[in-house]
Amino acid sequence: MSATPSLHVIRDDIQALNAYAVQDAQGFIKLDAMENPYTLAPEMRAALAARLAQVEVNRYPGPRVQDLKRALMSHAQVPAGFELMLGNGSDELIGLLDLACAKPGAVVLAPEPGFVMYAMSAKLLGLTYVGVPLQADFELDLPAMQAAIQTHRPAIVYLAYPNNPTANLWQPQDIEAIIAQVSSYHGVVVMDEAYQPFSSDTWLERMRAEPDKNAQVLLMRTLSKFGLAGARLGYLVAHAAWIGALEKVRPPYNVSVLNAECALFALEHEEVFKGQAEQIVAERARLQSTLSRGLGLTVFESSANMLLIRLDPHVWAPLCSAKSSDPDVGHAVAAHAFKALKIQGVLIKNVSTMHPLLKGCLRVTVGTPEENNALTAAFESIVQTHPQP
Ligand SMILES: Cc1ncc(COP(=O)(O)O)c(C=O)c1O
Repeated sequence: MSATPSLHVIRDDIQALNAYAVQDAQGFIKLDAMENPYTLAPEMRAALAARLAQVEVNRYPGPRVQDLKRALMSHAQVPAGFELMLGNGSDELIGLLDLACAKPGAVVLAPEPGFVMYAMSAKLLGLTYVGVPLQADFELDLPAMQAAIQTHRPAIVYLAYPNNPTANLWQPQDIEAIIAQVSSYHGVVVMDEAYQPFSSDTWLERMRAEPDKNAQVLLMRTLSKFGLAGARLGYLVAHAAWIGALEKVRPPYNVSVLNAECALFALEHEEVFKGQAEQIVAERARLQSTLSRGLGLTVFESSANMLLIRLDPHVWAPLCSAKSSDPDVGHAVAAHAFKALKIQGVLIKNVSTMHPLLKGCLRVTVGTPEENNALTAAFESIVQTHPQP
C-alpha cells in the first residue's frame, strides 16, 4: 500500500478552507446559478459546430482572441481612451486584480451580502477582506461604507451593480460618493456588471460622460449571464493605463481558442441573446407577481435574472413544525422549502445562512416560462399539502 501523501507544503489557511461547492443539478429544473435557460436552436448549434471544427486546437490562442477583444469593445461600446482585458470568466479577473494589488497590508472591501468570490479571492491571495453590511432593505449603508473606507483605505472596493444575491441596483449618488472617496487616495472601485443584460442601468454611461470622475473605476462584465456560462468569458473595461498594468498578470493564453470562437459566434448573433434577455426580464415580472400571491413569500424587486425571496415564518413555520417565535426559524423554514422544492424536482439556492440579513431567504434564477410555472406549482403544492392552521 502506498504511503499517505503529506500536504505539509500547502498553506495552513488553504488546508482549512472548503472548496467552492457546486450543487449536483442532474435531473433537476436548474434554477440555482443564474444561467440563461435557453439553449441554441438546432441550426445555430450546427453552425457553431462547423465553426468550432475549423479551429486549430493544436495552436496556442492567437489572432482570434484579438478579434474577440475588438468584437467585445464594439458590443459594449467602449469609450475612446478605454481598453478591454479578457478573463476566463469574471472570477479570474477578480483574482488577477487582487493579485496585482496584493501589496503588504492591502485591503479589499465590499458590501455584504454580496458575491462570495470577492472575499474568497482576497483571502486566497493574501489581502485582508472587509465586509460592510447593507441596510435591512439591501440599500448601501453609505455612512458605514464611508467610515470603513476611511479606516481601512481599501485598495479595491467591489460593487456589484446589480448585486448578487439581493438583485438590486444601488443608488447612483451613493456609488458616486464612494468612487470620489476611494479615488481621493488612488484606490480602485470595480463596478461588477455581471447582470447587465437584465439591468436598466450601466455605469459605463457615466464612465463615457465623465471619464475624469471615473478614472479609478474598472467596469467588469461577463458573457456568463448573457448565455455563455459554459464558455467562461469575462472582461474588464478601464482607462488604458489600468489595462496596461493588469495585462502584466494575465496568463498569456487564459482564453482558449474554443471559448473565443464560441464567443465571437455568439456576438455575431447578439440579437438572439438580446431577445432571450428580454424574455427573461418579462418572465421576471410574471414570476415575481405569481410568487407574491398567497404563498407566504416576499419577493424583492430585481434588476437581474434572479429573485430573492423571503419566507414568512407565520406561513412556513407550521409547515415544518418550527415555532415562528424561534430566533432561528428563518433558517428552519428556508431549509425546509429548499428540500421540499428539491423533492419536487426544482433546484434553487438556499442563502439563509450566507449572511444575517438573508435569514429566511432563498434565491431563484428566472427560467423559461415552463420552468417558472413548475417552480410556482411546486411552491403551491408545498403550501397546499400543509394547510395553514
Ligand atoms: C456579481 C457576480 N460577479 C461575477 C460573477 C462571476 O461570473 P463568471 O461566470 O464570469 O465568472 C458572478 C457569478 O454568479 C456574479 O454573481
